[in-house]
Amino acid sequence: MTDRTAADGPTSQTGTAATTAAAEAEADARALIDELPDTLPRAEILAINSSKSDIHTHRTYTYNGWTFRLPPGVFRPGDTSRIIHDRLLDGTIPVEGRSYAAIGAGLGVEAVIAGVMGAREIYAADIHPDSVATATAHYGLIVGADRPGTVFRPLVSNLFEEFPSAARLDVITFNPPAVSTRTSDDPTVVRNVCVGTGIVTRFFDQITDRDLLAPDGVIHLVVSNTSELRDIVAYAVRAGFRPEITHRRTWAGDNCRAYLFALRHDHAA
Ligand SMILES: C[S@@+](CC[C@H](N)C(=O)[O-])C[C@H]1O[C@@H](n2cnc3c(N)ncnc32)[C@H](O)[C@@H]1O
Repeated sequence: MTDRTAADGPTSQTGTAATTAAAEAEADARALIDELPDTLPRAEILAINSSKSDIHTHRTYTYNGWTFRLPPGVFRPGDTSRIIHDRLLDGTIPVEGRSYAAIGAGLGVEAVIAGVMGAREIYAADIHPDSVATATAHYGLIVGADRPGTVFRPLVSNLFEEFPSAARLDVITFNPPAVSTRTSDDPTVVRNVCVGTGIVTRFFDQITDRDLLAPDGVIHLVVSNTSELRDIVAYAVRAGFRPEITHRRTWAGDNCRAYLFALRHDHAA
């Protein structure tokens, strides 16, 4: 039989405090999910994505005075992309000295900014080999392949599948192709826009299964109500992450609402 002593007092109080913190975290997450809008009706999602796709052409894109050249198949950033790009550039999403992964790196804007801001290492990962090659070329041209203090790690990878098992990331960003409605039968459009909720649930599963996020690490995820917004955030909470809304964006002329979430390990989970 265990001899219980006075020392048990603080231990049980600690246990009570942990239980209270867990209940509060759960209530906060529930309130945040309840605040999120329903997914837009299919017709509205199709209208928002109705502009004729030029994805199979050569295009250019300028941002912060930098010119990016996009071969066919590489995503051209839109307003949702810039929610993350602008915050990397102004330091609201800090990467200096940190291990950073841009998932779905596309043409490489996130990687370039992270290089300029002095991240310690930068994974630029995309399932599309031409996107990884494009991101690598832009990184070399704008930042310089051998920037002192920064290791650039381009990776053709289905989410984190090709990441080394030792990878521990301080910052992860993702602008996922999570639109819930198939806006096109073109596989290139699907890869860039409308894979659906599954790509985000796999993203969270891989982070937890592979223990990829450093203890104080932060995931920055941008999602709109063209996706199953509530399901996505509820899944993240069940996977052990604590969500916070760090930015909201609306547009004149439609009902699209985009959210930037910061998600951290829920140590109370
Ligand atoms: C919406 S675009 C975002 C591109 C860029 N990050 C931006 O914000 O402009 C989505 C990107 O995810 C990539 N992607 C799609 N499925 C992927 C997967 N399973 N693993 C990694 N990248 C993926 C696409 O090739 C595309 O570059």
